[in-house]
Amino acid sequence: MKSKIDTILIIDFGSQYTQLIARRIRECGVYSIIHDNRITLKKLKHINPKGIILSGGPESLTGKNNLKIAKSILISQIPILGICYGMQLIADTFGGKITKSKKQEFGSSIFTRIGKSQLFSGKKISKKFKVWMSHADKVTKLPRNFQSLGSSTNSEISGFSNEKKKIYALQFHPEVTHTTNGKQILINFCKNICGCSKSWTTKNKIEEIISEIKAIVNNDRVLLALSGGVDSTVVASLIKKAIGKNLYCMFIDTGLLRKNEVQDVEKNIKKGLKLNLITVDAKKKFLKNLKHITNPEKKRKIIGETFIRTFEEESKKLKNIKYLAQGTIYPDVIESSSSSSKSDVIKSHHNVGGLPKKFNFILIEPIRKLFKDEVRKIGRELSIAQLLLDRHPFPGPGLAVRILGEVSKEKINILQEVDHIFIEEIKNANLYNKISQALSVFLPIKSVGVMGDQRKYNYVVAIRAVKTNDFMTADISEIPYKILNQISSRIVNEVPKVARVVYDITSKPPGTIEWE
Ligand code: XMP
Repeated sequence: MKSKIDTILIIDFGSQYTQLIARRIRECGVYSIIHDNRITLKKLKHINPKGIILSGGPESLTGKNNLKIAKSILISQIPILGICYGMQLIADTFGGKITKSKKQEFGSSIFTRIGKSQLFSGKKISKKFKVWMSHADKVTKLPRNFQSLGSSTNSEISGFSNEKKKIYALQFHPEVTHTTNGKQILINFCKNICGCSKSWTTKNKIEEIISEIKAIVNNDRVLLALSGGVDSTVVASLIKKAIGKNLYCMFIDTGLLRKNEVQDVEKNIKKGLKLNLITVDAKKKFLKNLKHITNPEKKRKIIGETFIRTFEEESKKLKNIKYLAQGTIYPDVIESSSSSSKSDVIKSHHNVGGLPKKFNFILIEPIRKLFKDEVRKIGRELSIAQLLLDRHPFPGPGLAVRILGEVSKEKINILQEVDHIFIEEIKNANLYNKISQALSVFLPIKSVGVMGDQRKYNYVVAIRAVKTNDFMTADISEIPYKILNQISSRIVNEVPKVARVVYDITSKPPGTIEWE
């Protein structure tokens, strides 16, 4: 579909920061999308962007087999900004020289700008400022008709431009917050150079999504697989605004949810949002299918499969449903479509909400263009309870990937109680919103303890709390010892089968957030 609103197209060369570029641009109120480097001129014209950004990437233009794009795109007269690898690609295409550098420049550096450029216009940008670098190769000769924009600690040419052709290149990363003036540089590119207007606002997004749903669905019925999380709740709310009573939500109780989750979802969805909600009790089926299964990936597969089969069976009971709605968000779309991405995948995720490929329904994904923070803002605008919007993420396979070894009813009950106490205590200590994700893990071991005068030989649980922006990397959250002590004391006292509580102090990498 040709974009009606001003769009910046980001061409991805596998940088770990590509999504960050897109988010930063959107934070400036301008719509941005990501495409891999195989984009054709025809597709580009179809998207009709007002500007193009070439991302960084792990490749080197000094070697063979590197990623490129069609030259016709670079000379299509649409303003271009190349970042890091993107800069080197521009240099390479227009006849500059790139040299392998012995010294890598990684982390903070000082950029000293020279000359005048539209990129540094607008709000006053100082002559020298701090920038974030991450490169080994450097541009050692400018392409013809390009001027240098400045140098950094380790490279003589750290940026260049052809102001007339509106082609700009930067070795540093303006999208990373460590770069002073980074956001202003992106604003200058999008607004002053490309002429984009600030049309990507929450209100506009809501209106656009609702009118799109109305246009597609008309008077037909939609079924939504609801998880109770932020994404599917926001989707439910948007669809309800568009088609009212013709929306049916289905919530599958896998038995692997947190304590009180089913009641909470029913309260939020049925009473709060006044939606048609069908709760399917599939607890026994999930437990039966997970019997004797200890391998983490196998557990995930079985849960995904069981979810799909249950959904299929239950949806057959509903009549006259034409559409199936899903809460897919933009990072899922990028991850499943970008094959030029060289960033490592740590663990293969699959969402329990992932539904069968072959279905008699037509799929609609109303928030597929949005990042998580944008979904939250929409939720706020639609008056969805803040408590729900601020909830920590919960994995599709639920407590099954937090119970190491075989899952059983007893272990689920224990973990639900432990998790409930842990979350309650961090909420009481006003830490919940400072932590990105907090979780408890059931360990398949027993340990000796003493309670009163009695020796205890019981289970061990672990608690974990992390701080992260993107869940790709994470640091451990620093919960004060006093609070940890209170948490551990409550767990051991209130959950009789637990003898010991341990605290996970592993960051990601090397650890993942979940234990399985
Ligand atoms: P890891 O453990 O890979 O987790 O560091 C990163 C984030 O993803 C969540 N996660 C999942 N979410 N299905 C999901 O829907 C899954 O299979 C899954 N595995 C992990 C995890 O809770 C964390 O937020």
